[in-house]
Amino acid sequence: MRLEIKNLSAGYGPIQVLQGLHLRVEPGELISVIGPNGAGKSTLLRTISGLIRPTTGSITFDGKQLEKMPADQIVRQGLIHVPEGRRIFSKLSVLENLEMGAYTRRDAIAKDLDDVFGLFPRLAERRIQKAGTLSGGEQQMLAIGRALLSKPKLLVLDEPSMGLAPLIVRSIFEIIQKIRSQGVMVLLVEQNALQALGLADRGYVLENGRIVLEGPAKDLLASEAVRRSYLGESLVH
Ligand SMILES: Nc1ncnc2c1ncn2[C@@H]1O[C@H](COP(=O)(O)OP(=O)(O)OP(=O)(O)O)[C@@H](O)[C@H]1O
Ligand SMILES: [Mg+2]
Repeated sequence: MRLEIKNLSAGYGPIQVLQGLHLRVEPGELISVIGPNGAGKSTLLRTISGLIRPTTGSITFDGKQLEKMPADQIVRQGLIHVPEGRRIFSKLSVLENLEMGAYTRRDAIAKDLDDVFGLFPRLAERRIQKAGTLSGGEQQMLAIGRALLSKPKLLVLDEPSMGLAPLIVRSIFEIIQKIRSQGVMVLLVEQNALQALGLADRGYVLENGRIVLEGPAKDLLASEAVRRSYLGESLVH
């Protein structure tokens, strides 16, 4: 089971955003993609999950070509995208939102619901609460929990820490680590480069729709360019 992206270009109408990029997620890996605002990170994830069609290149997952596959079919391959900004169903309860995550399944979900509540005790306490009244951190937990009920093989997360307080960010990252330790591959887009690379096996730096740097996460964390641009370190001491 691996994701392999070759020479991928994509954009919106005449606007080309992704400019021929290569990226792969190997079995069991957690991969982080970092980059400035507008670099094309979300566009990359939308293209992988079939919401945008590539203009060139190929996306292969578990031996299947995704680039012409409808988005709902991609979900059925086990590739689950948690988009930026959480998109939960605010009028539905926590439990109903989680059940929506299981819509592609025909088997019983009780055990998986228990697992998600085990991972997110806050959601268990609030299972009948309307999702729209959850805090930002709780909504992010719900979005991830809902994705887990689709039984992802590859979980694609777009800035799960966005707008959250440091303590909640830390618990979200711990949960991502746990999910990964259960054998789910993870592709994580983050502004929070230090923590994202801290979790990742490998990382990619995306700028202007191109991969400008890639390698083992610890090498990226040590690299001068990453430290200067993404970890807020000045070269002048
Ligand atoms: N629906 C759209 N129509 C036209 N252009 C878009 C659309 N969505 C994004 N873009 C443009 O594509 C470029 C990349 O946007 P994208 O959202 O992929 O960046 P990003 O790296 O995720 O940024 P951020 O860190 O701010 O989330 C930007 O210049 C943006 O304005
Ligand atoms: Mg984005």
